[in-house]
Amino acid sequence: MKVLMINGSPRKGGNTSIALQEMEKTFLEEGVEVETVQIGNKDIRGCIACGTCASKGKCVFDDVVNELAPKFEEADGLVIASPVYYASANATLIACLDRLFYSTGFDKSMKVGASVAVARRGGCSATFDELNKYFTISGMPVASSQYWNSVHGRGPGEAAQDAEGLQTMRVLARNMAFLMKSIALGKEKYGMPKQEDEHMFTNFIR
Ligand SMILES: Cc1cc2nc3c(=O)[nH]c(=O)nc-3n(C[C@H](O)[C@H](O)[C@H](O)COP(=O)(O)O)c2cc1C
Repeated sequence: MKVLMINGSPRKGGNTSIALQEMEKTFLEEGVEVETVQIGNKDIRGCIACGTCASKGKCVFDDVVNELAPKFEEADGLVIASPVYYASANATLIACLDRLFYSTGFDKSMKVGASVAVARRGGCSATFDELNKYFTISGMPVASSQYWNSVHGRGPGEAAQDAEGLQTMRVLARNMAFLMKSIALGKEKYGMPKQEDEHMFTNFIR
């Protein structure tokens, strides 16, 4: 059982890292392997809609996005965490996720997703909703916690004082571990849900 965690913050040891470390400790207690990749400090450009990924099976820009792809394919769950910038996820993380989800053709359904927003004060729930959209277009069940998944802090390290936020992270990791284990058992007993032969793309016009 393995979880990939993508940290969208550019700050090493920042508040997003504190939130993810709390999840990592809980995952390890639950026997779940964790790999965390911090991408917020990397030079990641956005998707240019060239469509090359459809023929090559990977993004035309050979950067960390193509390194994340096999890790995501192998993982049973994906955590995406972002510092809130102007009530939204940080731009580097969005560039990364747009390209990661769009360029990878493997089946993501029944991999469990969880998103985390970290802010000084405002914009957490808008960011949380924004990040969850990647999962819910991909057939990925979303793990939840006792509150919408947010942790508060401004300067690096302040999130360590947010007792409720950190508890929310521990409960989230425990719930996510339970979901991943339950889905693994469900796959053994019932198999994956039947897929339709043709995926309809009607663009609202026909
Ligand atoms: C460009 C920028 C925009 C920000 N916008 C917001 C915001 O909309 N709401 C908020 O509460 N905090 C905002 N912040 C503060 C960060 O979300 C906060 O410092 C957070 O803890 C950073 O996480 P990190 O330490 O993991 O990078 C912003 C910070 C930056 C650099």
